[in-house]
Amino acid sequence: MVLITLEGIDGSGKSTLFASLQRALSDLSPVFTREPGATWIGDQVRRAIADEVDPVTEALLFAADHAAHLDTVIRPALASGRTVISDRYTDSRYAYQWATLEGVLPDPLTWLRQVHDGWTIPPDHTLLLVLPVEVALSRKKDAGKKEHFEEASLLARVQENYLRLAGEEPARFVVADAEMKEGELASFAEGVIREWCESSRSRRRR
Ligand code: TYD
Repeated sequence: MVLITLEGIDGSGKSTLFASLQRALSDLSPVFTREPGATWIGDQVRRAIADEVDPVTEALLFAADHAAHLDTVIRPALASGRTVISDRYTDSRYAYQWATLEGVLPDPLTWLRQVHDGWTIPPDHTLLLVLPVEVALSRKKDAGKKEHFEEASLLARVQENYLRLAGEEPARFVVADAEMKEGELASFAEGVIREWCESSRSRRRR
């Protein structure tokens, strides 16, 4: 029972990686899940993003989706001893909403942490995909209408925030170069996740 999260800016290739991990790690039978969107609240969050609600409302909606996600997916899966792999999780809020709440609240990260305090489950391990923002945006450019998150200056701040979070907790984060070829990145990620699962099993045996 280990909680693993995948993080990275829009266009980092996270969703493609997530899909190949679903195939590559099927022997471990993990629960694959995502934020936003694992619950009906996630659908409302997507609507709110599309409508561009104010940043505090948006942050609280993402947090509400997280609470429902914990209740309906994460806690039951961990309680039954399953490994959970989530495409985005709390660090998405810390990185994105830290950026969108800059200038709105005096200390967005502290506020975001307080909002989660006492009920969230921190991830055991996080794989963070990092790449130049221009490369990420060029991958997204043909993908239809842009969400407001997909602006170069915002994504640059979000990625900086992710790296600050990773710097605070080097034992939890592995930072991967998302410019690697798709197959190379997938086998790198598979190897790292298998090691995390193995070390959690051997800790439990001790
Ligand atoms: P999603 O559609 O899952 O995008 P991706 O495929 O890049 O993961 O997520 C929608 C957007 O919501 C994405 O730009 C990241 C953003 N987001 C936040 O700003 N805060 C959050 O807490 C989460 C979970 C996502």
